[in-house]
Amino acid sequence: MGLKRIAITTGGGDAPGLNAVIRAIVLAAVHRGWQCFGIRDGYDGILVPEHYPHGGVISLDLNSVRGITHLGGTILGTTNKGNPLSYPTVAENGEIHEKDRSDDLLAGFKTHRLDALIAIGGDGSLAIAHTLHQKGMQIVGVPKTIDNDLDKTVITFGFDTAVDFATDCIDRLHTTADSHQRIMVIEVMGRYAGWIALNAGVSATADAILIPEIPYDIEKVAEKVMQREKSGRHFSIIVAAERACPKGGGYTLTECKTVGRVERLGGVGHKVTNELANLTGKEARCVVLGHLLRGGRPTSFDRLISLRFGAASVRALDQGRSGVMVALDPPTVNYVPLELATRRMKTVPLDCDTILTARDLGIAFGD
Ligand code: F6P
Repeated sequence: MGLKRIAITTGGGDAPGLNAVIRAIVLAAVHRGWQCFGIRDGYDGILVPEHYPHGGVISLDLNSVRGITHLGGTILGTTNKGNPLSYPTVAENGEIHEKDRSDDLLAGFKTHRLDALIAIGGDGSLAIAHTLHQKGMQIVGVPKTIDNDLDKTVITFGFDTAVDFATDCIDRLHTTADSHQRIMVIEVMGRYAGWIALNAGVSATADAILIPEIPYDIEKVAEKVMQREKSGRHFSIIVAAERACPKGGGYTLTECKTVGRVERLGGVGHKVTNELANLTGKEARCVVLGHLLRGGRPTSFDRLISLRFGAASVRALDQGRSGVMVALDPPTVNYVPLELATRRMKTVPLDCDTILTARDLGIAFGD
């Protein structure tokens, strides 16, 4: 195999475990006698080199990745505004429009004499990786996202840490809910899938969980609160995924889609809190966990799969593979075509065991 120079990019929202993946890649590559490079801020290090006076593509050696396995974030930086297939570009008339800059990117790989790329990211980043593979670049993808919405892998790294932290927060909010006899509504991220809300809600014994996959009727949620009230339980814990929406209604946004940027979800927590306060006459408070779910140290589970994914991605390149994503398929890590992994979003199946468990435990979904 003639590989000598490989690059790493981290794209989309940061997730706990990114640095562990980077470290595993660098170690596995250096042990093979390869040189490793990191592209700054997604692909911006190549697409806008003028922003990087110290280099948009940096050399990564054993020293660069020492002591980073347990750190959140990414030492390379990331962005969710720099999709090279629809890159925000200012036209001569001053208007901003989206431009396909994949050829500029391929030219940049040539300039830096990069033989292959490991793209660490969610569905957007892996769709970009798929296109670059189709254009001839040797690429392996690594599935990252706290949302766990990527198909063809049992789990993405970052998800376990997000669920663990959300569970801890909900546990803590029980104290105030109980002491003040309040309804506490906790809004969690997760984009268009309810995985974080479901797993954290069940683990932290929520009374109702609102997820995008099951449109809710707020009257039913209020009924659940009042049933508890009658049975002497004067507080309720409601977990709402950011994309949860009422039956027949739409979801809430904090920002609409703009050029080069996806829409920003959020606001359902406050909406549900106000409606429940009105319907039940009880005091209600909302806590939005937001980006706290993306920060902090990865759990040992996330560290381990991140290290396994990183090492497996280098083995894939070594075996001459391209256009594949590493995927957790216990007990092993497998390779699946990027095309399959990015074809559909993995949402929560309504008949999955965790939903059945929640229903058996008496947790309401508002349906
Ligand atoms: O995909 C990860 C995620 O944290 C989603 O859960 C959330 O909707 C989105 O990113 C938030 O993005 P931003 O960092 O742009 O606010």
